[in-house]
Amino acid sequence: MPKVSDVPHVGKAILDAIQRGAPDVDLDDLPNLTDMSADKLTENVIAINQGCTNPRQKYVLEALVRHMHSFVKEVGLTPEEWMTGLEFLTKTGQMCTDIRQEFILLSDVFGVSALVDTLNHPKPPGATEATVLGPFFVEDAREVAIGGEIAGEESGEPMLVKGRILDTNGKPIPNCLIETWETDEDGYYDTQRSGEDGYVQDCRGRLYSDKDGNYAFRCVMPVPYPIPNDGPVGQLLRSMNRHVFRPAHLHMMFIADGYEKLITALYFKGDIFLSSDAVFGVKSSLVEDPKKVTDPAEARKAGFKKDEFYLCDRDFILITEQQAQEELVKAKAQAKAEATKA
Ligand SMILES: [Fe+2]
Repeated sequence: MPKVSDVPHVGKAILDAIQRGAPDVDLDDLPNLTDMSADKLTENVIAINQGCTNPRQKYVLEALVRHMHSFVKEVGLTPEEWMTGLEFLTKTGQMCTDIRQEFILLSDVFGVSALVDTLNHPKPPGATEATVLGPFFVEDAREVAIGGEIAGEESGEPMLVKGRILDTNGKPIPNCLIETWETDEDGYYDTQRSGEDGYVQDCRGRLYSDKDGNYAFRCVMPVPYPIPNDGPVGQLLRSMNRHVFRPAHLHMMFIADGYEKLITALYFKGDIFLSSDAVFGVKSSLVEDPKKVTDPAEARKAGFKKDEFYLCDRDFILITEQQAQEELVKAKAQAKAEATKA
């Protein structure tokens, strides 16, 4: 059989479309889809997608079609509900701008972002767990020396975070780049306070571990904050009777040669939202309980002007790129076995 464009009298509209890039398929390659009963529709869609030459894309879309069709069947989706869903997604897209990504937020509040993150960054026992990056990281945080200040003391209650960067054998990792960022005591990131002239960097910084893997920096105790909730995702959460808050956290990222990049965060014991994070970022291994130091001499020694500070003593354990690869193969096989069993 010929290609579509070889068929006599195929029509100008079709020829125009092919000229503009529509695939000029071979008619022999097309499946024979004639039975559109509910039983056959899923197979039909999968059959006509078989021409995809990217095997991963073909595989992922085949699973997506199966899950979408079985979802429609399972809930008995009505035309009104189908339209409600489409209108919601339309509003979600319309809410997106260069600095507002409502679709990522949607993925976050359904736990999909956390699931993708966890699945793709499995850790062996003892290694520091990863968590979601969030939208407030910037590339050009200013560098501070070990023990330096990433937040002005007027930005909140002072906290000294210190410890070591180690591998899973306890060997120190020198010269590890550490990026860290957090809210001020009002629950805002510096970028959320940007005016016409941009923003003034505060509560973020970068530093390097020393030759023994030591690091330390002065910051402030972060506080809980709301996710953006003035759009369709916020409305959805209200309709589900869900709150829109994240527990306080200190974001941290670690980059060292030969090691998997670690994106993580520390959370703090006693936070009212620790067990109901709107975006499912909390892992119990990342919860810290900083102790309050009330000795003014200690405060001066650490470099604080105030007399009291929180001390958060925390080591971070990185895994090598090879360990990361091995863990990923194991975790994906296990997740797939569980998903196909379910
Ligand atoms: Fe955050």
